[in-house]
Amino acid sequence: MSPLIQNTIRFVKEKLHGAEAGHDWFHIERVWKLSKKIGETEHCDWEVVELSALLHDIADPKFHHGDEDLALKISCDFLASENVSTEIIEQVLFIIKNISFKNRGEVSSDLPTELKIVQDADRLDAIGAIGIARTFNFGGFKNNLIYHPEIPPKLNITKEEYKKNQGTTINHFYEKLLLLKDLMNTQKGRELAEERHDFMLKFLEEFYKEWNVE
Ligand code: ADP
Ligand code: NI
Repeated sequence: MSPLIQNTIRFVKEKLHGAEAGHDWFHIERVWKLSKKIGETEHCDWEVVELSALLHDIADPKFHHGDEDLALKISCDFLASENVSTEIIEQVLFIIKNISFKNRGEVSSDLPTELKIVQDADRLDAIGAIGIARTFNFGGFKNNLIYHPEIPPKLNITKEEYKKNQGTTINHFYEKLLLLKDLMNTQKGRELAEERHDFMLKFLEEFYKEWNVE
């Protein structure tokens, strides 16, 4: 492993100490590993992929009063202190800025391969068993309801509505998690999403069965 990647790992672990468990170092580690797995099947710049995967949640706006520029500033300062070239820094910042699900309407479909890879990796970690665990952890962190039979999911919500959504955790499956399979950018991402998606469907089926005690 290059000294740059080693230093980045140390930096990220330190910064994310005490983070919400769905957005902590272990989320980053999984996204980093998934990015490498997907990247093996694509033609890409490895340094950009690894740095973006490691830095993509360094300061998530939802944990920093909605500040969308903080992650860019922290990443830019860190990479410059490691003497990373301006060209690479720009590519990494572009990915951090555009990776998020809630910003999906704002970027062109002609995305750099490195963004497609890291975005798929981040989305894979949002679905399946890990996705379910992260979502309930976040719902608990926000003190949201697990489920309410009379609160329907809000489909096609705007970025602003998504951010302030106080809905239930089960609704989050319909508002985001179940949509991710069809939003995968890469062939490998699509393949890996299948099993995770089916697992969520099974989970929901079982959930309603147990909720609706006969
Ligand atoms: P992105 O990482 O693409 O910006 P989010 O930050 O909105 O997307 O979501 C990251 C993860 O945080 C989700 O996959 C989910 O696990 C959790 N999460 C976000 N919003 C909610 C919510 N309203 N209810 C439950 N979990 C949520
Ligand atoms: Ni992430």
